[in-house]
Amino acid sequence: MAKIIPANPVKPAIERVLELLRQSVPVALPTETVYGLAANAHDGIAVARVFALKNRPQFNPLICHVGDMAMAERTGVFDAVARKLAEAFWPGPLTLVLPQQPSSEVHELVTAGLGTVGIRWPQGFAAEVASILGKPLAAPSANKSGRVSPTLAAHVAEDFAADELLVVDDGPAVRGLESTIAKVHEGSITILRPGVITAEMLAKAAGVAVTSHSSHDDQAQGIEAPGMMASHYAPDATVVLDVDGCSQTDALLAFGARATPAREIAGHVLNLSSSGNLEEAASNLYTCLKELDGHSPKRIFVEPVPQEGIGLAINDRLKRAAAPR
Ligand code: TXA
Ligand code: MG
Repeated sequence: MAKIIPANPVKPAIERVLELLRQSVPVALPTETVYGLAANAHDGIAVARVFALKNRPQFNPLICHVGDMAMAERTGVFDAVARKLAEAFWPGPLTLVLPQQPSSEVHELVTAGLGTVGIRWPQGFAAEVASILGKPLAAPSANKSGRVSPTLAAHVAEDFAADELLVVDDGPAVRGLESTIAKVHEGSITILRPGVITAEMLAKAAGVAVTSHSSHDDQAQGIEAPGMMASHYAPDATVVLDVDGCSQTDALLAFGARATPAREIAGHVLNLSSSGNLEEAASNLYTCLKELDGHSPKRIFVEPVPQEGIGLAINDRLKRAAAPR
């Protein structure tokens, strides 16, 4: 049984978490993007337990969450471009994939032996824990592998109902969508996973061009973005990315203000953002998908979301949710 404790008051919560981490026991922690399943990144046993709890394939590396810049620099090698991005966006929803620092003690299970390491300095509770532990936290999203990422402590408890797991509750994740993952290699930037920090924002902050890794290349590129499997972030219901033949047994995920027949017909309707605000839509995406899925509809139809700015990240996740399983 998963057990939920509040993040506030913060001192006893952090003490409880540190006690478990020091015993190599993974803990679910809040971050501003989604909830993470955290372990000391230097502790191979603890990291192996994270993979086992999630049923995650071990070729898929984990992100190291740091509590300050010095810890980040002990973990990865920062060139001028990486440093500019860190200055502009940390703490925040950006993961940098960098060459691993040769002296870093991050366990090779975390990096899947790639020679690179994903590093993120998150906002809030998780960063405080990393800081006090003095070691990075390896933490994937706190969901069973292939399932929708959790934006509430209750989502984590649901996915891990059959496991013994402590979940620290700090309310709804503010961003609601996983971090942007950017690989910095010889001064150039490649986006491996789109997020609320967009290519335009990265290019502006670093002063260099940004390329995007197309998910269609996954097979060809093998391990480049190992976690970006075609089918991912999947609810139980079939997700359909257009609105065609909607009936009462279907649910509808709407976007923007318009009146359509499907909105009248669908058994359950939720709107990502009735004002058409993409940031709001990103923060609501997983919560809405989970809520609609909870009604056990036959299908979840999704209205189109504009393919611009944060819309790219939203459409990326929707496409994976709709992919054949
Ligand atoms: O917002 C987030 O990023 C959340 C919170 C908890 O921080 N974490 C998260 O972790 O989404 P996860 O494990 O669900 O996704 C991490 C992604 C995977 O696709 C993995 O393949 C990729 O990061 N990744 C990690 N290290 C990498 C590396 N060295 N090279 C390429 N991709 C890497
Ligand atoms: Mg995940």
